[in-house]
Amino acid sequence: MKRIGTAASLAGIAIATGIGLTAVNAQSPEELVEQRQDNMKVFGNAMRVTGAYVREDAATIEEVQEAVMPAAALAPDILSWFPEGTEVGVGNSAALPIIWEQWDDFTEAANAASQAIVDFEEVVALGDPANIAAAMAQAGRTCGACHDVYQADDS
Ligand code: HEC
Repeated sequence: MKRIGTAASLAGIAIATGIGLTAVNAQSPEELVEQRQDNMKVFGNAMRVTGAYVREDAATIEEVQEAVMPAAALAPDILSWFPEGTEVGVGNSAALPIIWEQWDDFTEAANAASQAIVDFEEVVALGDPANIAAAMAQAGRTCGACHDVYQADDS
């Protein structure tokens, strides 16, 4: 009994430490910008691999699924990547200050994209190329709609 108790508390400490480290990272605005850009790159990769699949037959359906799944896992959290104080001028951020001035509109853009990316992943899982092309285009429009307004051009 004593041993089990010890193992359980050690696991508890490990979990608590993990959470603590994440919180420390989240306090550096530069770090947040980098994490956001890394997440956006996961989106970019999903679109690139799917584009290769539907346009040039240059990727397999398995590669598409592997690329889109992590994007769909990230998609519901887009808004949380944009805390105040992470705009242009912080690290190499291309996030325009208008994001926080028009937070309601930005929220709408983020939610539309989240939904489109999650839907996209569901279509990808079914494996029909024509439907995948349509769902990719639909998701891609939501990326572009946000970038047009909220991302600095020169990035
Ligand atoms: C709600 C707004 C929004 C949505 C939706 C959105 N993005 Fe972005 N994206 C941004 C902003 C703002 C930046 C600039 C972030 C920064 O530099 O801090 C960015 C940056 C990027 C970057 C550059 C990352 C880097 O290396 O600096 C890529 C690639 C990207 N987005 C791809 C996508 C794709 C693909 C989608 C759709 C599947 C998407 N984004 C959806 C707002 C959005």
